[in-house]
Amino acid sequence: MADLEIRLPDDFHVHLRQGQAMAAYVARTAAHFGRFLAMPNVVPPLSTAGSLADYRLAVTAAVAAAGFDAEPVMCFKLLPGMGRDAVFACAAAGAKAGKYYPAGATTNSSDGIADPGSVSDELDAMEAAGLVLSVHAEDPRSPALEREAAFLPVVDRMVAHHRGLRIVVEHLSTAAAVDAVKLWPERVSATISAHHLAFTIDDMMGDRLDPSYFCRPVLKGARDREALVQAATAGSPRFFFGSDSAPHPPAAKAAGSAGCYSSPVAMSLLAAVFEAAGRLDRLEAFVSENGARFYGLPYNTGKLGLSRSPWTVPSELDGVTPLAAGRLLAWTAARL
Ligand code: NCD
Ligand code: ZN
Repeated sequence: MADLEIRLPDDFHVHLRQGQAMAAYVARTAAHFGRFLAMPNVVPPLSTAGSLADYRLAVTAAVAAAGFDAEPVMCFKLLPGMGRDAVFACAAAGAKAGKYYPAGATTNSSDGIADPGSVSDELDAMEAAGLVLSVHAEDPRSPALEREAAFLPVVDRMVAHHRGLRIVVEHLSTAAAVDAVKLWPERVSATISAHHLAFTIDDMMGDRLDPSYFCRPVLKGARDREALVQAATAGSPRFFFGSDSAPHPPAAKAAGSAGCYSSPVAMSLLAAVFEAAGRLDRLEAFVSENGARFYGLPYNTGKLGLSRSPWTVPSELDGVTPLAAGRLLAWTAARL
């Protein structure tokens, strides 16, 4: 018997990669999540109807091989100059969202957007097609810890200029971003990751440097983390879960790649964060309801069990050092 049963969660931001590695990452996600927004920063990027269809097939096959009932929600990569027709074609191919990567902000984003004005037509098309704009809100020209705050005015202008566009600000890392989201209209929501809720920059570099905690946006300090926990646990429908699980094999990590492999531990971390906040009763809304409602999807019908059954995170999973490797986590998650 699980100590807590919740509706099967969704992960509205996950990197499943491509090729051979994908099967294991998909299996980790499908083990705990009924749906997942698959990020499009593969090579070449998911920016056409054809590439979206192929990627959906590959992911769906990996889900079936893993033996879980789960489905991807598709997201295309917004490229400058891609044009309105390409946006409508992605919508027709089943995309629910399009991802805005500032050029150079993160992994595989050199083809991203340097000038926000350059995608104005595409944003109009997204609005007309009812697509969600998913935003990596960081300005890579700013100092590493200030990039999110520096990008908020860009989001502000998109909110003002595209008055029907639904926007998700991804993986919030600062109190400033939480405050901004609350001030924007209700068509703007935000995801928060398990690592930004559970850890701070000191987990990455306070003692020894641990690259498995290095991600974009970089983990911030205790005050920012507290603001994120407050936002996630306050019961507001504006905030929901996106793991931003972003596995990088050891060679890529050694070369400095940003991304935490959090899928295997995310639900355990979230249960501990919500318990510490005295708000386990609000975990289900955060992971299983708020995001589904924002994306206009029905709630999942399955159940996830969470048990107070401690486990130590292994030093390696699926060829990657997972987030929280070596830590003793208090909660175990499993589908019921
Ligand atoms: C992500 C990746 O590796 O694809 N990395 C990360 O640090 N979060 C990309 C992203 O979401 O920024
Ligand atoms: Zn991401």
